[in-house]
Amino acid sequence: MVSSSLRIRELCKRYGDFVALAPTSLDVAKGEFLTLLGPSGSGKTTLLSLIAGLAHPDEGQILIDDADVTHSPAYDRDIGVVFQNYALFPHMTIEDNIAFPLKMRKVSDTEARRRAAEALETVRLPHVAKRYPRELSGGQQQRIALARCIVYRPAIILMDEPLGALDKKLRDQMQLEIKRIHRELGTTIVYVTHDQEEAMTMSDRICLMNAGAIEQLGTPQDLYFRPRSVFVADFLGESNLLSATVRGVDGEGLDIVLAEQLAASRAVGNGSRFATGEPVKVMVRPQNLVVGEGGQLSGRLTDVMISGSLTRLYIAPETAGLPQLVAAHPTRSGSAPYEIGQRLSLGWHAADAVAIHDGKEI
Ligand SMILES: Nc1ncnc2c1ncn2[C@@H]1O[C@H](COP(=O)(O)OP(=O)(O)O)[C@@H](O)[C@H]1O
Ligand SMILES: [Mg+2]
Repeated sequence: MVSSSLRIRELCKRYGDFVALAPTSLDVAKGEFLTLLGPSGSGKTTLLSLIAGLAHPDEGQILIDDADVTHSPAYDRDIGVVFQNYALFPHMTIEDNIAFPLKMRKVSDTEARRRAAEALETVRLPHVAKRYPRELSGGQQQRIALARCIVYRPAIILMDEPLGALDKKLRDQMQLEIKRIHRELGTTIVYVTHDQEEAMTMSDRICLMNAGAIEQLGTPQDLYFRPRSVFVADFLGESNLLSATVRGVDGEGLDIVLAEQLAASRAVGNGSRFATGEPVKVMVRPQNLVVGEGGQLSGRLTDVMISGSLTRLYIAPETAGLPQLVAAHPTRSGSAPYEIGQRLSLGWHAADAVAIHDGKEI
């Protein structure tokens, strides 16, 4: 197993007056699968290019296994890179494409062939060695790009939206393949995507980026169930966000008031500090909204959407000042059909209501 740790210290990149990456610090452990997630333009590729040595930072440091590589050329960093456009050489066979980085490193022809064959086994395409890239599908070409990267056993692999060009089914399959290869090789991987589901499926930790800075760093569960900002709650899947006021704080628990007509209720914090009197947003994920049991509020059903395994109910609360809510539960055959306009009781467990600062964190 070849793998290195990566440390980034106050790394910063500007293009003229524009800050593409504000001073950013981040540690990636040996063998970790870390994903940079964020909307287009949030600085993911910028950060990845700096790590790869394809761009140069204005400030800060990059350390690989404690060695400062901030000013080392790309080829000295023991890093492999896979991009969305796989950029295979069209006039070379698959075998020669994969052996190319080894030839560059002066590995003997026999050894290069042996390792190319091994890499082809790893990506489960042992039979395509003699073909040309044009004779392979997009998904197969992406596997070859991956084989060409792992063939020289880099200690860190960087991937920038590698599955972006593939259709959904193939993408799902390749996600599992990349996870399997990660398990087999144990290499440290920094993966970039703008797709939150992909990030949730694949990562040990997610680094959510927004406007050139880290918005939140943590496990998929941390970000999904304990978002530190409304941006995080919104970016990672559907959420109900209700305005509330904090009435009291005890440890991780909060007393909150959602609307004047409603009794006080409880929420949990997200790891940051809250003050009495502070306006907050309370997040309840759709699957945690319980429909049809003596809940905190009632509402009218405005829409039902069945998307395969999930049924979504859109509900307009009868209490003034609350937004439309969405509840989701597994689709079951044979359950009584819903009627638009029907009155439903709605509730949630206090542990599933998470308070988030409404503005900047204090
Ligand atoms: N070479 C460049 N010159 C000027 N601006 C750039 C350059 N590269 C990136 N940017 C800007 O930096 C911001 C972040 O870009 P990027 O890191 O590519 O975002 P992402 O990969 O998250 O979509 C964008 O607003 C982009 O326009
Ligand atoms: Mg990008």
